[in-house]
Amino acid sequence: MFPPEEQKKVKDAAQKISAGKVVALTGAGISVASGIMPFRGQGGLWEKYDPEEMASIEGFRRNPGSAWVMHKEILEIVEKALPNPAHLALAVMEERGYLSSIITQNVDGLHQKAGNQRVIEFHGNVRRLICLECSALYPAGEIELSSLPPLCPVCKGVLKPDAVFFGEPIPRNALSQAHREAGECRVMLVVGTSGLVEPAASLPLLAKSNGAFVIEVNPEPSYLTASVSTLFLQGKAEKILPAIMEDLR
Ligand code: OAD
Repeated sequence: MFPPEEQKKVKDAAQKISAGKVVALTGAGISVASGIMPFRGQGGLWEKYDPEEMASIEGFRRNPGSAWVMHKEILEIVEKALPNPAHLALAVMEERGYLSSIITQNVDGLHQKAGNQRVIEFHGNVRRLICLECSALYPAGEIELSSLPPLCPVCKGVLKPDAVFFGEPIPRNALSQAHREAGECRVMLVVGTSGLVEPAASLPLLAKSNGAFVIEVNPEPSYLTASVSTLFLQGKAEKILPAIMEDLR
């Protein structure tokens, strides 16, 4: 149960969601309850690793073997992770016809595991590997990671997780679909993102500029809270999204 003021916000969110085309924008916070660490803040990945060395394309090309130490650790966590109640609530929202699509910055594939069909992977997916030489794609499970970096079975080029690294463009299809969805939605549900990394961070503003109502769910105010969000529900996604879904029933 939530305090009355929070309960009212949950009701308001559900009412908005039931009345218009809804698109969700998700970030690392939605997967925290599945055991996947976020990037920023306490316990975040960037406390332990240098993003410039590990997650920029220049750093990766310079030293793929050492960057792969972090990526192997992430991949092992992601392969085992299961959707949590927040992912499952979004899957039910889509199934019941409330949710048009999810634009996710996450690279863990958990929305698809939860059952969502319309997922725009804005930053790719680490469960797929891409060859830097010939661009061949491989499911991560098919590639041996005992010696790092793993090499392409065909051309022996270095394999990289097929996630967007700093310095790389957003995949063209994902970018255009995300712009279309954000521009056309009546409600944008922003969940578990710090709102710091562009161009994803601009999608809620794009939605709002086109008249959408922006609902944000996060335990902490983000860079979007004061300037963009119309309704801020302060709390964990795995508690708040199921409560909204319950209200929609
Ligand atoms: P961040 O790690 O920057 O932010 C995570 C957000 O989740 C923070 O605002 C937390 O307050 C919030 N959070 C933590 N626990 C939560 C919970 N249980 N429920 C809801 N929210 C919670 O992650 P992103 O905003 O996704 O890019 O990061 C954006 C991009 O930066 C990532 O996609 C990645 C990274 O560098 C690339 O890999 C290109």
